Amino acid sequence: MTATVPSPTAPPTAPSAPPTARTLTPPGAAAFGEARRLPLVVRLEIGWVRVRPVHHGDGPALHALVGRMSARTRWLRFHAPVVQLTASQLRSLIQADHRDQETLLAEVEQGGRWRLAGFAQYHRLRGGGHADSAIALEDAWQGHGIGTVLARCLTERASLAGIVALTGEVLSENRGAIGFIRGLAPRLERRLHGTTIELICWLGRRADQRPAPG
Ligand SMILES: CC(C)(COP(=O)(O)OP(=O)(O)OC[C@H]1O[C@@H](n2cnc3c(N)ncnc32)[C@H](O)[C@@H]1OP(=O)(O)O)[C@@H](O)C(=O)NCCC(=O)NCCS
Repeated sequence: MTATVPSPTAPPTAPSAPPTARTLTPPGAAAFGEARRLPLVVRLEIGWVRVRPVHHGDGPALHALVGRMSARTRWLRFHAPVVQLTASQLRSLIQADHRDQETLLAEVEQGGRWRLAGFAQYHRLRGGGHADSAIALEDAWQGHGIGTVLARCLTERASLAGIVALTGEVLSENRGAIGFIRGLAPRLERRLHGTTIELICWLGRRADQRPAPG
């Protein structure tokens, strides 16, 4: 995790960077406070990063973002040779009710503007406590800690909405994403389904994992 202590003042080019940025807590740790206060702006080594909930007007930017992703990244995210978002994929991203369906966007500050770099989403599954989730970043922004910030915000948001476990289908070949999720999730179950692995990330702590009182 490369979130660092922010500089005392935001750079003049950052449109809405606050004077102080909040630090993040690991998913599952008790303090689910950050996602309540989105947008969250953090300073990473590569610069300012903002995480915010999607708006209806984000469709064109999401469409363009997926167009900028490499074929490999789109394959890893959609498990299909997607070139552009279909209308239903786009709808599923922007029609968030911020409780049963959530999409969070990660933006990077460039020349005084926020540029979309990635998205993470969950959809609550029938029955209530579980939600299907996915995440993807534009290639140029992978490996800089943005996915970690985005995923932590999503898990916090999900937990606030009463979700107890986030699930995700990851291609077995996607060692990067599997390592990424393993690093984030203290309680992870894996189920192999042919060429994909279902990862179940339990949010919160089991009673037997809590530190003994006193
Ligand atoms: C998976 C993904 C979301 C991770 O986001 P990211 O911003 O690149 O990840 P971070 O920079 O926050 O990395 C956090 C940790 O994850 C691990 N990790 C991330 N990408 C990795 C990769 N390609 N290979 C190996 N480890 C990787 C590293 O251990 C890293 O820890 P480090 O900081 O000590 O090196 C991003 O790489 C991506 O969009 N991949 C393509 C789409 C995809 O695979 N989505 C998941 C399936 S839905």
